[in-house]
Amino acid sequence: MKGSRILGTGSALPRRIVTNAELAERVDTSDQWIVERTGIRQRHIAEADETTATLAIGAARAALADAGVDASTIGLIVLATATPDNTFPATATKVQAALGCNGCVAFDVAAVCSGFLYALSVADSLLKTGMARRALVIGAETFSRILDWEDRTTCVLFGDGAGAVVLEASSDDAAGPDAPGILAARLHADGAHHDLLYVDGGPSTTQTVGHLRMRGPEVFRHAVTNLSSVLREVLEEANVSVDQIDWVVPHQANARILDATAKKLGIAPEKVIVTVDRHANTSAASVPLALDTARRDGRIKPGDLIMLEAMGGGFTWGASLIRL
Ligand code: UT7
Repeated sequence: MKGSRILGTGSALPRRIVTNAELAERVDTSDQWIVERTGIRQRHIAEADETTATLAIGAARAALADAGVDASTIGLIVLATATPDNTFPATATKVQAALGCNGCVAFDVAAVCSGFLYALSVADSLLKTGMARRALVIGAETFSRILDWEDRTTCVLFGDGAGAVVLEASSDDAAGPDAPGILAARLHADGAHHDLLYVDGGPSTTQTVGHLRMRGPEVFRHAVTNLSSVLREVLEEANVSVDQIDWVVPHQANARILDATAKKLGIAPEKVIVTVDRHANTSAASVPLALDTARRDGRIKPGDLIMLEAMGGGFTWGASLIRL
């Protein structure tokens, strides 16, 4: 097998929408501050009956329907999340049981906001080995459950949601730069920056779930630098110039990070898919959620050359160039 291609996409969002104005009733903030500094206008927040698994199942079902394939043909489920339903087992196994494809390989990947990029590369690599023919790659999160709702510097930034893709191993004769598939990918991590973005709890330290802590301005600076450099690496690996890219589907952390990164690389702002205004930062869910949104609203079309990119806690960061 030469690689894999995306057969379908799907997403799921919690029912409840929370506006900036509603948050301003709880913490000392304003719609104006949030919009000016982040571009966020609203976010979806999970209710009691909605969890990372239920959102992941919704996104996976939508992706299977879009791909026109049955769950029984899935041989691998890789789910990226930092907010699993339980410490163990993997949330991927809950998705598997709900879809009824029991017996296939299923596990979670933890790379926070870059989780979907990591999961996509892992699934692509496993499909290349012939371990499975079709995979579900999912990013799903309920960050609302790890936010400190008293901390205005973080609680306004995040939302809940899930996105998924169905990947299929592509045959040798279909491969080539113009054939659909994952053309190039690069992943990185630098654990030296752990304390700039982390959760202050966990089973092996505090035996609690903990709350998200972030030094926003420092993360912002690293994000623009790391994303610009990994995008250049992937373009070089694929031997593609910036103007050949039809769409950039970035991790949706902050509209100003998207603008600054696009400007640094000379990417036209109208080629950048922006959903941060409606979804806020949904961590590992944000890239597949934005990809699905732009496919369903007709912007992203079959044959388009798309750059996916993300950066998050760890730090971890990465990018993938795909042809749809
Ligand atoms: O997904 C993983 C990657 N995450 C990111 O990429 C996030 C990166 N960071 C960011 O997006 C931005 O740094 C933030 C949106 C988090 C913050 O924006 P900023 O422009 O860097 O603001 P700041 O942290 O420098 O804060 C400016 C001011 C401060 O007040 P003083 O010290 O100037 O008086 C903050 O206390 O804004 C204040 N502030 C707020 N005011 C109203 C911080 N949060 C709020 C708030 N409402 N929610």
